[in-house]
Amino acid sequence: MHSDLEKAVKILEAGGLVAIPTETVYGLAADAENEAAVKSIYAAKNRPATHPLIVHVASAEALPYWAREIPEDAKKLTEAFWPGPLTIVLKRSAHAKDFVTGGQDTVALRCPSHPLVHELLKRFDAGKGRGLAAPSANTFGKISPTTAQHVRDDLGEKPDGKTDFILDGGECTVGIESTILDLTGETPRILREGDVSGEMISKVIGKPVEHGAVGASPRVSGSMKSHYAPEHVLKIVSADDLPGETQFLARHFKTFSLIAPEKIAKRFSTVAEKVRGYKDAKELQVNLYKWLHELDRDGGDVIFAVEPELTDSSAGVLDRLTRAAAERPNKESK
Ligand code: TXA
Ligand code: MG
Repeated sequence: MHSDLEKAVKILEAGGLVAIPTETVYGLAADAENEAAVKSIYAAKNRPATHPLIVHVASAEALPYWAREIPEDAKKLTEAFWPGPLTIVLKRSAHAKDFVTGGQDTVALRCPSHPLVHELLKRFDAGKGRGLAAPSANTFGKISPTTAQHVRDDLGEKPDGKTDFILDGGECTVGIESTILDLTGETPRILREGDVSGEMISKVIGKPVEHGAVGASPRVSGSMKSHYAPEHVLKIVSADDLPGETQFLARHFKTFSLIAPEKIAKRFSTVAEKVRGYKDAKELQVNLYKWLHELDRDGGDVIFAVEPELTDSSAGVLDRLTRAAAERPNKESK
């Protein structure tokens, strides 16, 4: 076996924290049944302890271990989309303890497709169904990591950092967090948009799905308004308003970076500090966090983003872009 993989399994079995590559974003993983290990995830991320975590499993065979009811829709959807970027919320079994579910009677389950973590989960599961609790491997409120370097820069590795080990699996290919689908209510409901769209889900289960979390509690931390945010001001502008916006900044001796469809990006490449062009919503989705990390680290004073053209599957990337641009109480342009 890959020696890094072996090391990761050992650390996880001993109750340690390993940053794992997944196809969506890097996760900060611990044994989902080890209370002390799971608590250390919250501490490392500085995340409120009431936010439930996703349990990552090796395959759909682990469902009965974690959930006490497995609806027909769950079977169809895991068949269609697992391994892959779909998380399903089911009624929990006794193995899903309060320290993972945030005290809720439900559990979020996902089987990631990244080959390295897929192999890791198979080893960790050891034919029993055991899983890894893993939120995104970033400090609470910061941009999610899509490379091992992002995790090194933010959480770091021990002795100086907060993770016991960072398993490097290259760049994430999906680029935004998984779709979260609640299957415990009357109608399936998407709690967080992602790469697996409502249309794709509807097609498989043969019925409509609802969108949006219900109630006021921030059960999905990504549903809080100012999540995924860069340090610099990020502003979404239309292609028409872009020239005026950039001239306004120039008059105040401020610089800008730009994320925009290729054509527009090219037009502004000489006046912007940095530009990142994309050809469609998918390319923006895959690169969004990486670009925000880059432009936040060394770009202009303000980051402008021009929205992509809408398609059936752009709900996830639009959601993340909008949240990253959301106003925060003490954010200045720096
Ligand atoms: O793509 C992903 O899902 C990544 C990778 C690492 O797998 N993970 C991820 O985890 O995004 P995290 O913790 O950043 O987001 C998981 C979300 C949380 O916002 C949490 O509130 C929600 O899943 N969640 C977990 N259990 C839930 C439950 N029982 N009911 C509703 N939402 C739940
Ligand atoms: Mg997160």
